[in-house]
Amino acid sequence: MKDYKLVLAEILANVVEMKKEDIEDLIEVPTNKDMGDFSFPCFRFAKILKKSPNAIAAEFAKKIERPDFIEKIENVNAYINFYLDKEELIKTVLDKVFDEKENYAIEQKKDKGNIVIDYSSPNIAKPFHIGHLRSTVIGNSLYRIFEAIGYKCISVNHLGDWGTQFGKLIVAYRLYSNKEEVENKGIEELLRIYVKFHEEAKKDPSLENLARENFTKMEQGDEEALSLWKWFKEISLKEFERVYDILGIKFDSLNGEAFYNDKMDAVIKELDAKNLTKISEGAKVVEIEDMSPCLITKKDGSTLYATRDITAALYRQNMYNFQKCIYVTALAQNLHFAQFFKVIEKMGYKWAEDLVHVPFGMVSMENGSISTRNGNVLLLEELLTEAINKTKQIIKEKNPKLENKDKVAKEVGIGAIIFDDMYNNIIKDIHFSWEKVLNFDGETGPYVQYTYARANSVFCKSGMKIEDIDNNIDVSKITDELSMALIKEIGKFSDIIQEAAAKYEPSIIARYVVNLAKSFNKFYHENSILVDEPNLKKARLSLVVGAMYSIKNALWLLGIKAPKQM
Ligand code: ARG
Repeated sequence: MKDYKLVLAEILANVVEMKKEDIEDLIEVPTNKDMGDFSFPCFRFAKILKKSPNAIAAEFAKKIERPDFIEKIENVNAYINFYLDKEELIKTVLDKVFDEKENYAIEQKKDKGNIVIDYSSPNIAKPFHIGHLRSTVIGNSLYRIFEAIGYKCISVNHLGDWGTQFGKLIVAYRLYSNKEEVENKGIEELLRIYVKFHEEAKKDPSLENLARENFTKMEQGDEEALSLWKWFKEISLKEFERVYDILGIKFDSLNGEAFYNDKMDAVIKELDAKNLTKISEGAKVVEIEDMSPCLITKKDGSTLYATRDITAALYRQNMYNFQKCIYVTALAQNLHFAQFFKVIEKMGYKWAEDLVHVPFGMVSMENGSISTRNGNVLLLEELLTEAINKTKQIIKEKNPKLENKDKVAKEVGIGAIIFDDMYNNIIKDIHFSWEKVLNFDGETGPYVQYTYARANSVFCKSGMKIEDIDNNIDVSKITDELSMALIKEIGKFSDIIQEAAAKYEPSIIARYVVNLAKSFNKFYHENSILVDEPNLKKARLSLVVGAMYSIKNALWLLGIKAPKQM
């Protein structure tokens, strides 16, 4: 929305002894509508001016020159309240909406520089589980949010395709499986033997040594070990692709951990040359103040997760010259990121401050939580399929005549799961429950999608074409509170996107779109839209269409589709 705060700050600066920027910070947007659209508190001037804040507010209020976009200025107690002129507000919002149409609030020249977003990043030979789903949907949403405010984003799937777990898998394969079983059962078999390895290693710790030896062999280029690794990787990737297809997600880069194998040596040498490394119990580490040291190589010379991340960050800065590099992972990895960010800072790279970890909470399922190690996993594909099936069932009951039931069930079922992942601050743990996720009346994805379909339906009944609806309306026709509330909600959209980006918080978009949907529904219940009076009808339809663009684009920012009917 037009930057009213800024303009008000400029006007206030003529009256108040204070910098424009500070005034702008002080201006509030009251939640109570009776206090106007903007409010300026005067408490802090009492000391300097030696008068009561109420008297000061009254004095200031008299002196302020009322700009056209303000309908009235009122002084209540220690506050100066500003009421936006309704017609001006309607015009400002609708001008922007119909100027940008389908791209309302999300179209930007991508001229602010590059942002790398590292997300999803599942581990090869382990299943893609619900934690990776969270990373995938949050990362995808951040990608769209940052593009909407003008960055060019690069999505990287930093596949966990290197590391000691492959040593374990090779040992497990040789001991507990064979070619045929793996070929027939794919990732399920890999998971089975990975779990079995951990059970057996509890009884016989020498298995761990064997695993380490096999990983070292891989690092040294042993052909047999490497060909097994490649095979496991191909099997896993095929599985991941299926899940990405269901979600409609593509990556710009699939450079995983293994990609950095031939690049780590140079980085380790650089760390040595900069005198940052120490040998501690045979391992090479970088010591960090107030944190445990960051491990660079193990006793046997093999590299670690952090070694690959340091190398990857250097590579990415070089390759993409990023403004920010964002990592979306579970909160449990906080220390890892704090450590390796610090190492990069110690290497003398100023851009270390542009590395951002965006942590999220755990997901627990109705029947226990999830961990790959003990095998209690719910394969993501199963979860998504179940969401689609359950949604199909609901649609069959609610709207048996609907065409394209399968397509809609997919968009709503998947949307429901994605929405649930981002409705609360992402740092919070979530407890997954079907009842909550698929509730069409709650604060859910289906509720928002349903609102969109309802708006579309009333619009279609008008018999008008979308091109016929524009900002060329008689603004005096819009008078009621609920219409004004809807206009304000629509007008907030761009600010909301900025806030979501600044806080790395897609939930701000999710909350917004629920409020927007609620606001639309209130407007819709209170006002007949398809009235006889043509100017009134056109004015109301322009709000319907404005709400549709906003809801659709907000859902898009979350990675959710907006079906026209459901
Ligand atoms: N593969 C890791 C996991 O599943 C996540 C990787 C995150 N990205 C990174 N650059 N470390 O836990």
